Amino acid sequence: KNLDVVALCGSLRSASLNRRAIRLAQEVMPSHMAIEELDWRAVPILDADALAHGYPAPVAALRTRIRAADAVLIATPEYNFSIPGGLKNLIDWLSRGEDQPFDGKPVAIVSASPGPLGGARVQYDLRKVLLFVNAMPLVKPEVFIGGATAKFDAETGACTDATTRDFVTKQMAAFAGWIAAVQRMQGSTAP
Ligand code: FNR
Repeated sequence: KNLDVVALCGSLRSASLNRRAIRLAQEVMPSHMAIEELDWRAVPILDADALAHGYPAPVAALRTRIRAADAVLIATPEYNFSIPGGLKNLIDWLSRGEDQPFDGKPVAIVSASPGPLGGARVQYDLRKVLLFVNAMPLVKPEVFIGGATAKFDAETGACTDATTRDFVTKQMAAFAGWIAAVQRMQGSTAP
């Protein structure tokens, strides 16, 4: 079965190191996996009054696309030790309603930072939020890309660090296995 994975980048920056991590995952993912990055730039700031009137078009489109996907890859920076506001706002929009798209959804997390910890702290805050929306986060291997500025080519964005490449390769292989395991558990795939 081909695995349809959508990716959300927690940074909107054009030269985002985290988007480069998504590119790396696309390069090293198993051959039966496809990863499509979704653009969430047009999502407005949540005003819960608006929930009574349905979702704005960009939110509705993202909900539909994520619900249809087999899994979600989130690559995010750490902002002030936690989840970037834009990404948290997006998850908040997605989180409401019985058909909320993270329900039972396998999720893999990667974070990249120029600093030494690679955004370690954001991952645990993100896991906490994913727990509440009933997602199924992959536990291991955890991937923190510290010192990330030196690990991606400044011009092309390609990963130049063999260790990082190896970590992400192993994570994507584990993610494919995790997606299959979750789907078996949910009874959507024959054993
Ligand atoms: C940062 N940065 C940062 N880095 C980190 O390791 N821990 C942190 O708490 C923060 N806090 C933080 C707050 C804000 C508002 C900004 C803009 C930045 C630095 C951050 O890791 C760096 O800018 C990355 O390059 C951001 O990821 P992208 O945009 O390259 O994907």
